[in-house]
Amino acid sequence: MRRFHIEPGGTLNGTLEVPGDKSVSHRAIMFSAIARGRSRITGFLESADCLATLGAFEVMGVSFTRDGGALLVDGVGRDGLSAPDATLDLGNSGTSMRLLSGLMAGQAFDSVLGGDASLSRRPMARVIDPLTEMGARIAGSDGQRAPLHITGGQRLRGIDYTPPVASAQIKSCVLLAGLYAEGATTVHEPGISRDHTERMLGAFGVELTREGRALSITGGQSLEAFDVAVPADLSSAAFFLVGASIGENGELTLTGVGVNPTRRGVVDILKRMGADITLVDEREQAGEPVADITVRSAALRGIDIGATDVELAIDELPAIFIAAACAHGTTRLTGAAELRVKESDRIAVMADGLAELGIEVTVQDDGLTIVGRPEQHSFGGGHIHSHEDHRIAMSFAMAGLRASAPIVIDDCDFVDTSFPGFVERARNAGLAIESQEHDA
Ligand code: S3P
Repeated sequence: MRRFHIEPGGTLNGTLEVPGDKSVSHRAIMFSAIARGRSRITGFLESADCLATLGAFEVMGVSFTRDGGALLVDGVGRDGLSAPDATLDLGNSGTSMRLLSGLMAGQAFDSVLGGDASLSRRPMARVIDPLTEMGARIAGSDGQRAPLHITGGQRLRGIDYTPPVASAQIKSCVLLAGLYAEGATTVHEPGISRDHTERMLGAFGVELTREGRALSITGGQSLEAFDVAVPADLSSAAFFLVGASIGENGELTLTGVGVNPTRRGVVDILKRMGADITLVDEREQAGEPVADITVRSAALRGIDIGATDVELAIDELPAIFIAAACAHGTTRLTGAAELRVKESDRIAVMADGLAELGIEVTVQDDGLTIVGRPEQHSFGGGHIHSHEDHRIAMSFAMAGLRASAPIVIDDCDFVDTSFPGFVERARNAGLAIESQEHDA
């Protein structure tokens, strides 16, 4: 296992390119694999999570070739996957498991979807329930956890479905099963969730209709190869947006970052806190909006963050908590119960870490309250347990910029699930971070 050691102080400066978007990379693999013809993916995120998706399709007979910086995918068509001869190991990746469960439910063959200890604790009833309603045969261990055993060869029928929570993973799962179902499948979104699936299925030639919050797909459609240029991941950029904001005299430009409106809550929330963030050269790249983002140090203030903010910034909240801890005044988060079922319980784990670094924090079922310490050293030093959660580790790494003593973060191998090269990039930008081996 690796741990991060961060010496206090420093500032983030320069120009930085963060790796490709995780959500877009997963979908690019899945959709090109079941499309007809050869797709070319550039900017693919070579992280453990996305490689788990790629590995699953390799096992099912799809061939991937590296061509310089691009990934060539020879799609086998919607009915061309072959039966896997072992459990598909999806590692730590919730997106792989939930989207693949929809896709696998429509295949002629059986499959088993498994993952690591964290993924095996996460709720899967949210995909089992709608898929069962569509006629799929899918069984979880104790009814609602991975591994998921899917019996192929079922006749799926379209349904009208309202998920219990706003979730791109549930929505995408049901729409993908809908591709293999008889008739129309409609998902009524209870809130906003990222729309990469809809955008990219459209690019691969699938017709989807949206009326207000209702999204419909008709079964039986085929996908045609498409070249995907994956933008840089705003969720990875978020650590640097916070770091440059809270460090002294920071000025950082992040290039080619995805700024999809269903994902860009972190920018709006930080701006509301007083952050100095500018989007430059907004453009479109393979159906996704992209921009360069410049961020400079700023004095931040505490704000209220509610349910709609949460939907648009679900993965960035841990980083935002670090900003809140450096802000003048109190930040109150509500409507964020979903944070408790991510790679870790991000409300509890962030609250414990913030308390360890001397921040006053109170926890509620669906949120927390953070009393900011706007002084030069907002944080003391301390020892943080990341609970094998990549975003917890990277968020606390940024706290080093405003700490009075070293911060040590355990169990950081999982950073590679979304952000290989984090330490090098952070160090180049000015964070005094080192990665060290430690016993698990
Ligand atoms: C994702 C959707 C979100 C997000 C996750 C990636 C996706 O999960 O937290 O990191 O790629 O569809 P939920 O759908 O559970 O909100």
